[in-house]
Amino acid sequence: MKTKLTIELKSMLIQRAIEARKMAYAPYSKYLVGAALLTRSGKIYSGANVENAAYPMSLCAERVAIFKAVSEGEREFEALAVITGNGGSPCGACRQVMAEFGIDMDVLIADAEGNLRQEAKVSELLPGAFGPKDLGGY
Ligand code: THU
Repeated sequence: MKTKLTIELKSMLIQRAIEARKMAYAPYSKYLVGAALLTRSGKIYSGANVENAAYPMSLCAERVAIFKAVSEGEREFEALAVITGNGGSPCGACRQVMAEFGIDMDVLIADAEGNLRQEAKVSELLPGAFGPKDLGGY
């Protein structure tokens, strides 16, 4: 069943992402990111960025949340809240991963105080996304 993205749900998601951000492991960049992902069934999965001394091995908060959910069987998502200190925007790699599972998903971008800086569909954040449809025969 589809979950309607009410104002209450939006602020709950933002709050969960703020909580998740406290778990960020970012000793190198010191840029802490938290994410909270709402599934179509109404569950919330959270994530934080996890860095590594071998820098490219690091993983963004958004992808941690999405991979946690997908690896537990979830496939359909309503919304993703992303929290950074300055309301920064999701990276291109995360936009691509979002597009795989929800081109119509709402993305809420907020700062550490929970102020909503931007709200957009994945299709707006990544126009013309390469997706499963482009693989044709697969
Ligand atoms: N980061 C995220 O977690 N999400 C993004 O969308 C952008 C960047 C993380 C990766 C790295 O740990 C730190 O922020 C600085 O780039």
